[in-house]
Amino acid sequence: MRPKISIIGAGFVGSTAAHWIASKELGDVVLVDIIEGVPQGKGLDLLQAGPIEGFDVKITGTNDYSATAGSDIIVVTSGAPRKPGMSREDLIRVNADITRDCISKAAPLSPDAVIIMVNNPLDTMTYLAKQVSGFPKNRVVGQAGVLDTARYRTFIAMEAGVSVEDIQAMLMGGHGDEMVPLPRFTTISGIPVTEFISKERLDAIVDRTRKGGGEIVNLLKTGSAYYAPSAATVQMVEAILRDKKRVLPCSCYLEGEYGLNDIYFGVPCVLGAGGVERVLELPLNDEEMALVKKSAEAVSSSIATLKAMQPD
Ligand code: 2OP
Repeated sequence: MRPKISIIGAGFVGSTAAHWIASKELGDVVLVDIIEGVPQGKGLDLLQAGPIEGFDVKITGTNDYSATAGSDIIVVTSGAPRKPGMSREDLIRVNADITRDCISKAAPLSPDAVIIMVNNPLDTMTYLAKQVSGFPKNRVVGQAGVLDTARYRTFIAMEAGVSVEDIQAMLMGGHGDEMVPLPRFTTISGIPVTEFISKERLDAIVDRTRKGGGEIVNLLKTGSAYYAPSAATVQMVEAILRDKKRVLPCSCYLEGEYGLNDIYFGVPCVLGAGGVERVLELPLNDEEMALVKKSAEAVSSSIATLKAMQPD
């Protein structure tokens, strides 16, 4: 039996995630969307790439959630993307309704699945997914930090003129412009990044990373990034299905870690078969902690907006 991964939302992020999953043969994919024909068409098209690329997985496109029953992983990508000038927070109302609908249909059919949330505002939608699914905190996780550190690592590799493979980095915080890249926890093959890049240039890289999603939105004009977001999601899928115990920054539910409570927030965690198996607490200095607090305030205020929107 191959693992089953359901992807809710057959837009650019969802279908590109299906592509990476198939090419890595991580499991069978069910692609769900409300638009008739789109998941079926994209699913069939991807399936027909199999004989050329040599992957043996089943890909089903459907408008019917019953095909998702018994999934090992549910990835939620459905929702509106940003347009230039919008913040991720501007999507809260429309994406909360979509998230409620998707999770209330998918979660009961796959009660043992791990849910990976990808839609925005990311930390708030992950909070909502936990609430609606009733799943334990380890089985509801948000994808953001893997994407944000990938952007950060890309910029560092470009600046230092070295391979992206050799950049290890950690980043914390909400998936917004207040996110907290951590140069003190960034190395190039174990060598502190500050040996390669000046403080001034690093500050500029941190700033570009924080606005990395917006940079792509401004270039595309009609949508947001999807190659890196979907690759980041699939790295999390792989960590869980292959029980790799990867140490990755993910949006996790916190109960006291970093002094934060009842919030989904980007922190380093161990990701394996149990989903979020452990949240790691880094020894942050005062300056880093102040940035984390500021980011947490932004996420808490978004969660408060969500709660105020909900009917009693
Ligand atoms: C990004 O940062 C879409 O939030 C996503 O590109």
